[in-house]
Amino acid sequence: YESLSVGELANKLGKEPSEIIKKLFMLGVMATINQELDKDAIELICADYGVEVEEEVRIDVTDLEIYFEESEEQDAELTERPPVVTIMGHVDHGKTTLLDSIRDTKVTQGEAGGITQHIGAYQIEVEGKKITFLDTPGHAAFTTMRARGAKVTDLTILVVAADDGVMPQTIEAINHAKAAEVPIIVAVNKMDKPTANPDRVMQELTEQGLVAEDWGGDTIFVPISALKGEGIDQLLEMVLLVAEVGELKARKDINARGTVIEAQLDRGRGSVATLLVQDGTLRVGDPIVVGNTYGRVRAMINDIGRRVKEAGPSTPVEITGLSDVPQAGDRFVVFEDEKTARQIGEARAGEALQEQRVEKTRVTLDNLFDQM
Ligand code: GTP
Ligand code: MG
Repeated sequence: YESLSVGELANKLGKEPSEIIKKLFMLGVMATINQELDKDAIELICADYGVEVEEEVRIDVTDLEIYFEESEEQDAELTERPPVVTIMGHVDHGKTTLLDSIRDTKVTQGEAGGITQHIGAYQIEVEGKKITFLDTPGHAAFTTMRARGAKVTDLTILVVAADDGVMPQTIEAINHAKAAEVPIIVAVNKMDKPTANPDRVMQELTEQGLVAEDWGGDTIFVPISALKGEGIDQLLEMVLLVAEVGELKARKDINARGTVIEAQLDRGRGSVATLLVQDGTLRVGDPIVVGNTYGRVRAMINDIGRRVKEAGPSTPVEITGLSDVPQAGDRFVVFEDEKTARQIGEARAGEALQEQRVEKTRVTLDNLFDQM
């Protein structure tokens, strides 16, 4: 027990509180019945009665979140890390075109020879500064990951087609971003179209609480044409500006932790997972627990298909070496030794299996009733 009151302790020992108070007095402690006793005091009293204190195991070994948070407390130097950006917006407003346009103009330039690999995320460099883009659909990234409590995005680009204006999914996207407290930059897209009406977009977004800087608000609007690659540089500059204000930091010198972006089973390579390293550095050979599975990082491939040995904060990498396929939004934590990782991983896998069985039984019973 972390702490107990005198009354509670007396109750547990089957003694009168007055007797405990007397004992405490002999030990030089003045106490009342409601006084909280710390572990040491409890142990002293119990020893006096010849009772051994059994430590309650309070940590659930299978709760990965605990390890995730524990690692947050590690002492290490904080350094700047790249922003992690998602793109959201209504159907057909140009999200995919924008992602492709950013990648085409930025990735291939600096990294000649690299073949862009679809791993669900990529990193670019602008004026020596990196930006990570998640190319999972923004909504999915927010909903599945937020449902699991994993925050992965630092900033979202809201794409609104200038010829179409604010639509239902635009509003949905705004609500998601607001709920997650993620800053929004508006990209007014399709400016090349003769029917483009950016003023209307600004007007409609004002009604949603996103007021452009030109109109006295604090939301950044950037007119772009994703198709023609126009305005992309300005947009990326704004991303860096907002990121700078956010002072995004992480520690390079601790064991990595982060979130699964996507994962699947590959015929040749087995379980393949794209991880976003959010803190620390992930290395080949690291013992790792990922969601309900675990393993050792066998190989790592970056977003341009190159084998890498390590990946720092805000870097997406595809890894192999896991015993099973995790799910998007799952957390991962690297452990110092393989034994611990295996123990936790196996316990989690077992628990997940158990839950699945319970679920299945339930389903079968439901089916049974359906048929009756
Ligand atoms: P979903 O993934 O279906 O939600 O759509 P999306 O938002 O990814 O839109 P996508 O990038 O697929 O673009 C939809 C259509 O708009 C495509 O035909 C694009 O070529 C076109 N488009 C995208 N950006 C622009 C632009 O800047 N100008 C013009 N004229 N067309 C664009
Ligand atoms: Mg798309």
